[in-house]
Amino acid sequence: MTDHKNNEVDQHSGTQTTGHEWDGIKELDTPMPRWWLLTFYVCIIWAVGYWYVYPAWPTFGGEGIRGGTVGASDWTSYKQLEESQAEIVARRAVYQSQFDSAPFAEIKQNEALFAFGMAGGKAAFGDNCATCHGTGGAGASGYPNLNDDDWLWGGTIEDIYTTIRYGIRANHEETRYSEMPAFSEMLDADDIDVIADYVVKTSAGAADAGSSTGAEAFAENCAACHGDTLKGMHDFGAPNLSDSLWLYGSSKDDIVAQIKKPKHGLMPSWEGRLDASTIRQLALYVHSLGGGEE
Ligand code: HEC
Ligand code: HEC
Repeated sequence: MTDHKNNEVDQHSGTQTTGHEWDGIKELDTPMPRWWLLTFYVCIIWAVGYWYVYPAWPTFGGEGIRGGTVGASDWTSYKQLEESQAEIVARRAVYQSQFDSAPFAEIKQNEALFAFGMAGGKAAFGDNCATCHGTGGAGASGYPNLNDDDWLWGGTIEDIYTTIRYGIRANHEETRYSEMPAFSEMLDADDIDVIADYVVKTSAGAADAGSSTGAEAFAENCAACHGDTLKGMHDFGAPNLSDSLWLYGSSKDDIVAQIKKPKHGLMPSWEGRLDASTIRQLALYVHSLGGGEE
């Protein structure tokens, strides 16, 4: 501070001047208001106390937690984060173990367990399944829609679980497997044409579905897997051919192509890639997408 002893006192305000003067204009040396100064000192004391109690200063070495002073209270935001994360894990663990041991029927009755499974299933679906089946499970050509009630391999929650766990035509001993034969070697083009007509007309809902030759040839060659009434069979993963939902296309050309040289879908097996609980959560989620069977 400047020594004000010799500075004159301003006559109007009664305040001492700093001694600086410009063309007769003098600078007043108004003291800080007392309340301001008090607050200032309190803040300094507060800050010193804070440094002591809480982590405040960065350090260079390994001292303290992650390069800072620790503080007497031993509190750090990292520790707080760890604690709240541990709490989440503990809360999850309660549901997790209940979910893992409860049968599906029970989970569906229990609102909290159901919500737990659905949340996990939804996240896992987005991460692992949406690439092929679409975000909402709507499917695409060759990739079945999982929202409808048309199921290749069965739509009960257990069926779906088995499909997800072992896959279809996948690299797993237990995988679901079937193969539609290539009829180009067994039937001549005319037979194939007649059968394809029969399938097209039946699926379009025609009462008199084509020639009886078509119906006969179908019964002989196709019904073993697709059923007498074309409704398909879950045991063989053989699609329903009597509805308007198609894996590989509904036109006669698509159907002829499938009869001659069938396409076969491959669904990966998820056992080993996803843990057992996640597979169960997925089964629950897919089943509840809309088309699950009881
Ligand atoms: C690489 C592509 C691909 C991925 C990834 C994939 N799927 Fe599939 N999925 C398929 C194909 C293809 C089929 C149909 C197989 C067939 O033609 O029989 C299928 C069939 C299914 C079926 C049987 C549908 C029915 O009608 O019976 C279910 C259920 C299913 N997938 C669920 C899932 C779930 C859940 C995931 C994620 C964990 C998943 N899929 C990931 C390709 C995939
Ligand atoms: C051994 C069992 C088997 C026999 C026999 C069989 N199919 Fe199939 N068929 C299947 C399977 C399994 C699929 C589904 C392939 C897949 O999921 O990728 C299929 C798929 C189809 C599709 C495609 C359906 C769609 O949604 O796109 C058509 C069409 C079809 N079969 C017609 C026939 C006709 C017609 C015959 C007789 C000439 C026949 N199948 C004989 C098992 C069979």
